Parts: sequence; C-alpha cells; structure tokens
Amino acid sequence: MPVRLDKEQIETALTTARQQRYLPFSLHLYDSVNSTNQTLWELLQNSASVGTVVIATQQTAGRGQWGRQWQSQQGGLYLSVAIAPNIDAINSYQLTFATAWGIARQLQNCDIDVQIKWPNDLVLNKRKLGGILTETKIFGSKITQAVIGVGINWSNPVPKTGINLESWQTLREIKPIPNMENLATQVLLGLESGIECLFKEGVNILLPKYADLLANKGDRVCVNDLEGTVIGVTSSGCLHVRTENSEPKSVKIPELYLEPGTISLGYCNSSD
Ligand code: BTN
Repeated sequence: MPVRLDKEQIETALTTARQQRYLPFSLHLYDSVNSTNQTLWELLQNSASVGTVVIATQQTAGRGQWGRQWQSQQGGLYLSVAIAPNIDAINSYQLTFATAWGIARQLQNCDIDVQIKWPNDLVLNKRKLGGILTETKIFGSKITQAVIGVGINWSNPVPKTGINLESWQTLREIKPIPNMENLATQVLLGLESGIECLFKEGVNILLPKYADLLANKGDRVCVNDLEGTVIGVTSSGCLHVRTENSEPKSVKIPELYLEPGTISLGYCNSSD
C-alpha cells in the first residue's frame, strides 16, 4: 500500500509555523512519481511558479548527484521546490549549501543532531540521512529557474551507510517527528530559512553557518598521495584541506581546495 500524505496537515502546520512567508508554497502531493525534480520541471513548463512544491513517498527514477540514481523506495520523503534565484550560474552551489544548512538547523531545533557532509549530504550518527540535488535552468550567465530536490530517509530501507529517521526514533523516548507530514513541514521550513538567509543576509553570512554544521571538520583525507585535515569550506564552496608537511620547515605547507565532485568523503563501512 502506498504511503499517502495528508496535504491539509502540512499546509496547516506551515501556516502555524510561519508569520511571514518568504516562499509562497503551493503543494502537489503524489504517491509515486519518476522523480519529484522531473515532475516539478514539467509543472514549471506548464506555468507553475516559484514556491511550487512536489512531494512523493516513492520515486521510480530518483536522481542523485553526479548523475547517480537515488534509491527511492516507498516510505522515504522525496520533495522538490521551485525557485527563481537570478544568481550567477557558477554560484549554484550556494542554493545547495543554503538548503543543507537550513534543513540541518531546523532538524537540530527538533532535537535531532543532523550535520552536513560536504557538499550536499545530511548526516545523523555519521550515516547518510538524506541528500540534496539542485538542478538549474540558465540564461546567459544567470540561473533563471532552479529546482531544489531533497530526499530524506524516513521509513524506507537504507544501505549500511545510511540511516532512516523512523528507526532512529524507535530507540528514543521522545520522538521529535511524529509522522511524515511533520517531516515534510520541517524540511520545507528549513529549506525556506536557508534560502531566505542566502538572499536576505548574503553568502558571507551563510557560509560560516554552513561550516559550523560540517561533520567533516577535522576529518583526515588523502588526495593525490597527500594526507591532510579538513579545515572548512571556502567562499566558492570548495573543501579546504590543510596537508601535513613532511618537508623541511622552510617548505610551505600546501593547502588544497577541492571542488565539489572531485572527491568523495565516504562513510564508515563504505568504500564510497
Ligand atoms: C544525492 O545524491 O545525495 C542527492 C539526492 C537527491 C535526491 C532527491 S529525492 C527528491 C528529488 N528528486 C530527485 O529525483 N532527486 C531529488
């Protein structure tokens, strides 16, 4: 049986939680779609506008980062939101960072210690809870439309490196997220607050907040035979790694700046 979400419940919770609306959410709920990002692009072609949201509890062709598939069995939360950011195309990473930060912070406010794994993963107990995929339409050098897709493991099966929120909650006395409607609400509130922070306060305010929630800080990484420690992220979204110096003191310690997609930081129990 497909998991059916109650649209009114999400709308009421959003209205209660928000005094002011930054994004005019308009919800479209489905049991199963190929990809919520794909469905949203189709709605946008048929004159849907900023703030349109597509939510499903199953995807048959979920899309992940770097052209990968996103396993989207029944019971997960698959959600996409349309925005029209009008920012430079090279800054599309800012939309992903803003979303990751907003959702992680929102879930932390619910007493769920979610962190960010650079650049676009949400992690809980060092395992992957969810991911973000931002797709853009570009005109000239600007992003005219963007679809931000978020997948969160709720009750769907996950690999060893993953975690789903429902199982995590069974071990706890207090269950901060009572149902998937509530999870969808928290994700939308978090996404909105992240995007609002980026556009109202600017990327220079957002980046330190994002870096504060990075699970990777202090991690040891090995890149091209150089070992180093993750320090944080740069203003252009690169991962900043400080390498050790096995050379004499006079030789400058090389700093590495890694673009998203050039290195996979992996999870425990994985070679990913
Ligand atoms: C990642 O690879 O970590 C990002 C995964 C993003 C998956 C979400 S699920 C909702 C939206 N629709 C898709 O097809 N993908 C994104």
